[in-house]
This record gives sequence, structure tokens and C-alpha cells, in this order.
Amino acid sequence: MREGYEGTGPGAITPDGCAVELYSRLPVGDEPEVIAAAVPEGARILELGSGVGRMTHALLERGFTVTAVDESAPMLERVRGARTFCSPIEDLDLRETFDVVLLASFLVHTGDVEVRRGLLRTCVRHVAEGGCVLIQREGEDYHDNVPRERKDPAGFILRIASAEPLGDGVNSVRAEYEFPDAVWTHTFRARPLTKEQFEDALAEAGLRVDRYLTEDRIWVRAVAV
Ligand SMILES: C[S@@+](CC[C@H](N)C(=O)[O-])C[C@H]1O[C@@H](n2cnc3c(N)ncnc32)[C@H](O)[C@@H]1O
Repeated sequence: MREGYEGTGPGAITPDGCAVELYSRLPVGDEPEVIAAAVPEGARILELGSGVGRMTHALLERGFTVTAVDESAPMLERVRGARTFCSPIEDLDLRETFDVVLLASFLVHTGDVEVRRGLLRTCVRHVAEGGCVLIQREGEDYHDNVPRERKDPAGFILRIASAEPLGDGVNSVRAEYEFPDAVWTHTFRARPLTKEQFEDALAEAGLRVDRYLTEDRIWVRAVAV
């Protein structure tokens, strides 16, 4: 397990505390639409931290070619129709470039600055000239509006139960997913980043924001400098 990351509930748990069975149940949201609107038709996408393919499968259905990367083999076993690589994102070097590199699921908020640098360097290493990096950031009140919960139309409750400061700008966040027949918890380290801090982190890696794709500035299109 990665330090500070933990998961409970049925089935396999990844080193960052995600449950394979949970992600197999979670429905895809509007992510594929946001992505499709920001990239050329039929683009070749490198998806970092794909999990079981929740977004991968929807992107494949839209005619994109997807290469899916995750450090969890049990997650990748559930991906269909995409080339897969099992590796920490930080260490990935496919010696190949892609029209689009996708770093979703708030991975850019990892508590460990060195890991974040590694993630962003991997994005830069794999983006083709003229291509782009799509990043999903946390919403601006993610760590303040706690506890909070919502009932998903798919029939489960998602609760952000706590976000406890650990020092050095990092919080330990506990998420709970309650289904009628099962409960999963996920504890992880996240570093809130203001827009300026986020843009500085990108600049350090050789990326700049091309544009924010959504009004809440959660989805970002970045390009190599
Ligand atoms: C929160 S899940 C999201 C999965 C998928 N993006 C989705 O939205 O359904 C995060 C996934 O990223 C993977 N992951 C997290 N950090 C990683 C890293 N540094 N290298 C490789 N995989 C990582 C985990 O194993 C997990 O499958």
C-alpha cells in the first residue's frame, strides 16, 4: 500500500486504497463528453490510472483508441478493448506519444509532491507534438465542505466523511460508499491546490493551461510549453 492510503470492503484493494468491486459498480458520469468535446475525433488517448475502465469503455464506444495504465493488475483485468500496461504512472516510459494524455480522478492532488512531479513528467513524456494533456482537478470546496454526502441515482450514498490536516498542506480524506448490500471506505492523502498552485505545478513540469474546459475549472486542457 502507498503510505497514508487505505481501503476497506469486499474484494481487491489497490495500493492507493481503491476497491476493484466498487469501481466496477460505479457508473460513468459526464467525463467522456467533456473529453470528447476537447480533443480531435478518433484521437489516440493514453489514460493514466484507468482502474477497471469505467471511462475507458465509454471512450472506446465514442471511437477513440485508448491505452490504459494502472498499477493494479486486478483493476486492469477488467478493461476490455484497450491495450493495457500495469505500472506506477511515475515510472511509465512507453517510448511512444499520444494525441491525448488523460490524468483524471484528481490524481494530480496526490499528497506527495515527488509523486505529483512524476505523474506530470509522465504526461509530458507521452504527449505528441500538438497534442494535449487533460487533467481532472478537485472542486474548489472539496476539503472545506466536509462532511457532505449525496445519493447517487445508481442507488448508493457517497459520503466525504472527513478531511483531516496532516501538516504540510496535505489532508487525509475519508470517503464512504454505501450500497444496499455492501460498504466500501477509501482513505487517501490529498493536497488541495488553488488555481495558482495548480498552474505552478504544471509550469514546473513544462505544461501550461490552454483552457479550463468546465465552468467549475475541474477539467483542464494543458499543453507542453
Ligand atoms: C480513484 S481510481 C479511478 C479509476 C478511474 N480513473 C475511474 O475514474 O474509474 C484511481 C485509479 O488509479 C490508480 N492509481 C492511482 N495512483 C496511481 C499511480 N501513481 N500509478 C498507477 N496507478 C495509479 C489506482 O490503482 C486506481 O485504479
